[in-house]
Amino acid sequence: MKTNYYKTILKKIENKDLTVGIIGLGYVGLKLLLQFANKNYRTFGFDNDKKKIQNLKKNKSPISYISNQNISKIRNKTFYSNNFKNIYSCDVLIICLPTPLNIKNEPDLSDIKDCIFNLKKILRKGQTIILESTTYPGTTNEIIVDKLKNFKIGKNFFVGYSPERENPGSKNFTFWNTPKIISGHTKKCQKIVENLYKKIVKKVIISKNLMDAETAKIFENVYRSVNIALVNEMRFILKKMQIDINEIIDLAKTKPFGFSEFRPGPGVGGHCIPIDPLYLSWIAKKKGYNTKFIKLASQVNLETTKKILKEIKKIVSKQKNKKILIIGLSYKKNIEDTRESAGVKFFTKLLDDKINVRFLDGLVKELKYKNILHKSIDLNYKSFSKYGTIVICSDHDFYNYSKILSSSNLIIDLRNRYKFRHEKIIRI
Ligand SMILES: NC(=O)c1ccc[n+]([C@@H]2O[C@H](COP(=O)([O-])OP(=O)(O)OC[C@H]3O[C@@H](n4cnc5c(N)ncnc54)[C@H](O)[C@@H]3O)[C@@H](O)[C@H]2O)c1
Repeated sequence: MKTNYYKTILKKIENKDLTVGIIGLGYVGLKLLLQFANKNYRTFGFDNDKKKIQNLKKNKSPISYISNQNISKIRNKTFYSNNFKNIYSCDVLIICLPTPLNIKNEPDLSDIKDCIFNLKKILRKGQTIILESTTYPGTTNEIIVDKLKNFKIGKNFFVGYSPERENPGSKNFTFWNTPKIISGHTKKCQKIVENLYKKIVKKVIISKNLMDAETAKIFENVYRSVNIALVNEMRFILKKMQIDINEIIDLAKTKPFGFSEFRPGPGVGGHCIPIDPLYLSWIAKKKGYNTKFIKLASQVNLETTKKILKEIKKIVSKQKNKKILIIGLSYKKNIEDTRESAGVKFFTKLLDDKINVRFLDGLVKELKYKNILHKSIDLNYKSFSKYGTIVICSDHDFYNYSKILSSSNLIIDLRNRYKFRHEKIIRI
């Protein structure tokens, strides 16, 4: 009898008799694996980082906001591996691999391409592959669908795309209550992806095809990039008029429609906002359109970090005590991710300028720069008076900001942590 792969997989999803393999156990992948495991699906985590796999096997979480306890709770239904030997046992494979830029600032999809190249030889009929990585419109077709010619996609193999909307460190939006866009190469692919994600999120939004789902994700991040650039530009304009941007936002956001709140910061960081807009600019150029606005936003955001650094140096040069302490090296609060972080840029540039600078970050304990390992200072509020200036780059919630204020000489608050005016607080 001919196997009906479509019905089989739908049944497996329903009966929780399904193995979900997650490829890439980073911020996106590990969180996703936990969602499925916690809903009693068998899970298989793949990552080429051997140390990460060893640690996960010992229930050690690589991510600060995922506890070891969370990892140990799912241990009895989760396998981990640094190779693809057991891919065969997975019914669904979800790719959560990095999508960085190459040295020419163009999309670098080599991790996903290599992964598909290696998988191709070992995939079997009846499996489903879903891409979760953020990328330019057309990627899933180009590097997955087109490469799996030995299968009949939609009949004996299924392909989908579902972008991740993870907001690391956020307490307001959980995985469960953040609606998830899903899509499939065919209607049947779409249905499988829909039914699968319905098990782990409250609301699933159906995109009519893969490309729309890819575009929606990248548009979300471009929207953020452009608005952050706008607010950063506003801050510099208003500074010339001695107007505080944050107070203006407090007023403007009272409009109940047509205004979304974005706050100025030290500059954008992380894996998404500095990178994703360039994915869109790149594909636009390939299609014959030269983006202006999107590129400009990226440029303004990059310049923001440079301008702020210049301001910090100016402020410090006027102090008798030239020692600086940076609080928060990660690109935003409550996480340990330092990718593209403004705090790291400040720290390393100040070191290059031979300025006496230290950092405090309970999540980023050390930073290697030019072969030297720099360690976070230990938390001792009393010691803050040793520094002429304290720069708050990421305002982790676990610090006591009134203690910081009372024990420091001068604070440059780049996060609007202090909502009041004070002689010791400077906002740039
Ligand atoms: N971090 C976020 O908040 C976030 C949010 C939404 C979307 N995204 C997107 O999700 C994707 C993944 O991002 P992330 O932040 O989880 O990345 P990450 O760097 O935290 O994790 C990627 C993981 O993949 C592993 N890996 C790399 N190459 C591999 C390979 N060839 N085979 C197996 N494992 C490999 C790495 O060791 C790492 O553990 C990216 O496209 C990103 O843009 C990230």
